[in-house]
Amino acid sequence: MMSKFQLVATAAMGLEAIVAQEVQDLGYETRVENGKVYFEGDETAIARCNLWLRVADRVKIVVGEFPAYTFDQLFESTKAINWENYLPVDANFPVSGKSVKSKLYSVPDCQAIVKKAIVERMKFHYKRLGFLDESGAVYKIEISILKDVATLTIDTSGTGLHKRGYRQHQGEAPLKETLAAALVKISKWNPNRPFVDVFCGSGTIPLEAAMIGQNIAPGYNREFISEEWPWMKAKLWEDARNEADDLANYDQHLEIIGSDIDHKMVAISQENALETGFGDLITFKQMQATDFTTRLTDGVIISNPPYGERIGEKEEIEKVIRDFGTLMNQYPTWSVYMLSSMENFEELYGKKATKKRKLFNGFIRTDLYQYWGQKSNRE
Ligand SMILES: C[S@@+](CC[C@H](N)C(=O)[O-])C[C@H]1O[C@@H](n2cnc3c(N)ncnc32)[C@H](O)[C@@H]1O
Repeated sequence: MMSKFQLVATAAMGLEAIVAQEVQDLGYETRVENGKVYFEGDETAIARCNLWLRVADRVKIVVGEFPAYTFDQLFESTKAINWENYLPVDANFPVSGKSVKSKLYSVPDCQAIVKKAIVERMKFHYKRLGFLDESGAVYKIEISILKDVATLTIDTSGTGLHKRGYRQHQGEAPLKETLAAALVKISKWNPNRPFVDVFCGSGTIPLEAAMIGQNIAPGYNREFISEEWPWMKAKLWEDARNEADDLANYDQHLEIIGSDIDHKMVAISQENALETGFGDLITFKQMQATDFTTRLTDGVIISNPPYGERIGEKEEIEKVIRDFGTLMNQYPTWSVYMLSSMENFEELYGKKATKKRKLFNGFIRTDLYQYWGQKSNRE
């Protein structure tokens, strides 16, 4: 098997720079291209990146990249790749695909050709005359063609990295954990400052903040598809998890509150917090956002209020944002970050945002409206 891999961390549009920083923080040099973060690393990098990346969707191995204008080209170039360096003889390797702005636009045909080319290569290399039984570990291969350039990858994560393993229940519009973590990172919050989400729903943002605050690896409690691969030895994962354990700061005091008007959501948040082991560390309570009050200074509020898309909801939520904006004038040292698709958000809040950042919440285009607090005794 190989010792150095070309790896790629995929991320939602607009979050690439944050993922690149996360990869660099783990000690790898990055290159961002077409919204993807490329880097080189060994097996340890695969384990560590899966365990630690909070904002990336997946970590994949790039096994080949080549021009593909014809099916012949796709077949030959795929067959020329040393698949035996990645796939053992019993590998189970489903092939998925996508094609954008390319001559080879029939995705099912591309998938079938790639599959056939890999099978031929493997049969030749492993000297098999009959079929490959594919009874072993799963290697999810993707053929992605963009502007006639084909990229072949193997997914090392399996289930998307947003699945931390803590969310037992969710509300109607939960934020993806990766986006919630990105919001906390953008705010530059640190655990010495109080943190509040006044529209907490199922508690995703406070939970991600708590994990960041105590430096807990987000993937610590889940499994990854590459853990099944024979060459990703158990020891690698054990070492990576031990490293994560050593780096976690379980004694870090946290001042994190999540509140929601809906008591059912508060109960869900509490259950999710218990699942993460943050039951005693985060306070969840039922509260109307506009009843927020605090004696603390230099806090950070990060929330994802309703966007007023449901019939009858718009006027109500507009009033809440208006009143909340007015209320926050009483707390000038607090910073407020609101993710909203409401185009008149600033007008409602009563203030122009210090900064706006375009982000996608799934397919919904939103802006992160940032109101930076005045500095007082902040570290
Ligand atoms: C878009 S959801 C938040 C989702 C959350 N970030 C998550 O990941 O689950 C908006 C939440 O705001 C709550 N809400 C609506 N009006 C509110 C108000 N006036 N005060 C406090 N919470 C409110 C809703 O009950 C809902 O749970």
